[in-house]
Amino acid sequence: MEFTIKKITSPEKLQTGILVLGVFADGKLPPSSRAVDEASQGRLARLIAHGELDAKPGAALLLHGLAGVAAERVLLVSLGQSDSGAPGDKAWRDAFAAAGKALAATPAKDGAIALDGETLPPGRGLDWALRQASRIVADSAYRFDAPRTEKKEKGAMKERGARKIAFALSAATVADKALEDAVRQGQAIAEGMALAKDLGNLGANICTPAHLAGAANALGKQFKFKVDILEREDMEKLDMGAFLAVARGARQSPKFIVMQYHGSRGGGDDHGHGGKAHKGKNADKNGKPRPVVLVGKGITFDSGGISLKPGAEMDEMKYDMCGAASVIGAFKAIARMELPIDVVGIVPATENMPGGDATRPGDVVRSMSGQTIEILNTDAEGRLILCDALTYAERFKPGCVIDIATLTGACIVALGKIPSGLLANDDGLAEELAQCGTAAGDPVWRLPLWEEYQDLLKSNFADMANIGGRFGGAITAAAFLSRFAKAYKWAHLDIAGTAWVSGEAKGSTARPLPLLAEFLLARATGGEQPH
Ligand code: BES
Ligand code: MN
Ligand code: ZN
Repeated sequence: MEFTIKKITSPEKLQTGILVLGVFADGKLPPSSRAVDEASQGRLARLIAHGELDAKPGAALLLHGLAGVAAERVLLVSLGQSDSGAPGDKAWRDAFAAAGKALAATPAKDGAIALDGETLPPGRGLDWALRQASRIVADSAYRFDAPRTEKKEKGAMKERGARKIAFALSAATVADKALEDAVRQGQAIAEGMALAKDLGNLGANICTPAHLAGAANALGKQFKFKVDILEREDMEKLDMGAFLAVARGARQSPKFIVMQYHGSRGGGDDHGHGGKAHKGKNADKNGKPRPVVLVGKGITFDSGGISLKPGAEMDEMKYDMCGAASVIGAFKAIARMELPIDVVGIVPATENMPGGDATRPGDVVRSMSGQTIEILNTDAEGRLILCDALTYAERFKPGCVIDIATLTGACIVALGKIPSGLLANDDGLAEELAQCGTAAGDPVWRLPLWEEYQDLLKSNFADMANIGGRFGGAITAAAFLSRFAKAYKWAHLDIAGTAWVSGEAKGSTARPLPLLAEFLLARATGGEQPH
């Protein structure tokens, strides 16, 4: 997909396959829509007055061959009611999602989206809008390339979707490289999301730990960053007893993937930004850069192990590597954006399978940190692979560590499927992530991590048990992880409810990649919140 920014004075004269216009449900027309309405002798206003366009934000109405208008098609999208002045973030995003959906399905080859300053949500700037818009529109065109015998999408259908899309801004807008950058950033994030979605949607027979390692290696080659793959012997040498306890039931070899992106050094490697990232949150007191470390849970299939899961919907446990996929996808996005920041990605990858040599409930293992763990339930495996990855992360002297994991069904019970769960040992980091989640439309909600919860992990046979009983499961899982994250600022994102959708539209969402990208962008550009 190719995006451009066009500055225009007369949207009605724009030669394009499909022109997308925002309108308010109560009939108020932003400048671009007003111009098209006037050129078409008030056609838009009449259609809205007749109730042809549903009031709900994101409702859409497609018009063909509008008299007096150069565009072949005009798509009206509702921004909701105008009474509050401008749409909120959600209404605005819903409108762009509708635009993206229409642009992905149209037979038109090219399209344009009018983006009037008057329609921006309060407090949001054009760069924010262009970054969101290009990401949403590019992401709408994502299709999983399923291996089917017959290609059903033959002929006209196959060709659908506008490939060239222009953002039409008022000619009065100040020309600004920041706006071009914002469009490229959104596109880079969508590209990372497509990779994350592909990895998530693949069956676990294809998307094995070795496959994840291959995907990381391929990215490292393409963008020239360092990728190390640790094998079982390496993990044994490092005494990763918790991770290895999960891997022992599987025939597939475990992989411990380490990606290192150095954007802060500038010069030499063509990133050319230098300096900037050595200040503030991304550096220690002496100005030495400290990386952001992302840790992604990479269970390529979670059968539960000897504590076998029930059969219903077990296929969805192929998605238990979505944390890993979001980290690998984030690396694609930051490398494309050439962000001037240092980021380390760690992915412990293995299957969780039952087998003659699998870990049993009651087994006690020693983690890389030296702390011992009584494994009471082999289905609480995510925390076992993550705890060794968190210990391994210490060697990078991180500015902060964020782990991303489809960790607990309890998180879905607590929060539903709207926000990801957020737990942290640092209020500043938690607040930063929450704000970036809101800005990216990829929300998180914080749960408490009080000392009192630690008692629930007591064991008679080891330093701790790997489960904390029936209640507060998302919190006790994080309480477990916090024991391995004492050396740095740390946040944990539980994405069990947000990483994929079930039912007819079953598929990976790539969440929380939009949040991670927003966070890294903000950190790379001096720690200010993106707007
Ligand atoms: N991968 C699952 C969590 C999960 C469950 C994610 C359902 C999405 C949907 C995780 O490994 C797991 O099995 N957790 C257990 C923990 C329990 C045994 C303490 C759970 O949530 O039931
Ligand atoms: Mn499990
Ligand atoms: Zn799991």
